[in-house]
Amino acid sequence: MTKTTRAYTNIALIKYWGKKDTKLKIPYTNSLSLTLDKFYTDTKTEIIDKDSDEIHLNGKLLNDNESKRITNYLDFIRKNYGFSEHLSVKSINHVPTSAGFASSASGFAALAASINQTMNLNLDNKHLSILARNGSGSASRSIYGGFVEWIAGDNNKNSYAIPIEEHPNIDLSLLSVVISQDMKKVSSTSGMEISVKTSPFYSNWVTLVSSEINEIKQAIAKKDVEKIGELSEHNAMSMHALTLSANPSFTYFAPETLVVVQLIKELRSKGIFAYATIDAGPNVKVICTKESAPIVQKYIKNNLPTVTTVVANIGNGIQYI
Ligand code: DP6
Repeated sequence: MTKTTRAYTNIALIKYWGKKDTKLKIPYTNSLSLTLDKFYTDTKTEIIDKDSDEIHLNGKLLNDNESKRITNYLDFIRKNYGFSEHLSVKSINHVPTSAGFASSASGFAALAASINQTMNLNLDNKHLSILARNGSGSASRSIYGGFVEWIAGDNNKNSYAIPIEEHPNIDLSLLSVVISQDMKKVSSTSGMEISVKTSPFYSNWVTLVSSEINEIKQAIAKKDVEKIGELSEHNAMSMHALTLSANPSFTYFAPETLVVVQLIKELRSKGIFAYATIDAGPNVKVICTKESAPIVQKYIKNNLPTVTTVVANIGNGIQYI
């Protein structure tokens, strides 16, 4: 009996934005994330005696168009790992999909781990991270819990994530502010492609990330939460500057995104610990402490009653249930 695999989402504090190799998903820079406990994907795969794969997401059988990204990934794995069987994939996403909550991270991490089990590939975590990366870059980091660094590398064998501290004893919580659950208009895959090709600031981004990665690792080692917050917010804003400076320019921000950022700055000026980070979508994740999270949550809800908020804590790596 194969078990269900569970992978948690991760939020990048120093972000991955741009690939040297689009097909294999080799990034230009390292990135560093925190795995969260509230948002995850559960996946079960089974061999089926059919000539195509069957992909179910949240209980619904996907059509050819909807399942294309997954079936292409399964084709890639069949070709590279030497098997020919087709699979039934059943995934339940406990994540708002495609609105900057990194559902592709937990989705492809859970799928890679599930295939590893069903097809007896016997991959260790390093090789599992490589396999997850081939599905979606950020998924390489969801193999591990806590703070995780994805080492960019320059080929399929040396680009994988490593745990920095899987169970850090640090006072950090993450408040997710859900502004919209709609599908994003520009996928992260194409958003990063346009940014790399056309933003005049792309080479500055590569330089910035290499220094911010080193600084945040020092801050993690010292449990300096202020520094972690400052670096994360600065890095997120710098990533979004790449979209605004692309040609044609685009943005993932909704008007409410900027309102939340403003509210966070107001809270900070009153001495409340709160820093913003934003992925490829309008939603904001607020880096808080245990003490500040409920205060920030209340303040944002009072000012923007329509948003949904969830407090997450630090999560684990891949689990077999
Ligand atoms: C902004 O991992 O979704 O969340 O590799 O093309 O599937 P692909 O992209 P994806 O990009 C994530 C971008 C980000 C930053 C991050 O998670 O590091």
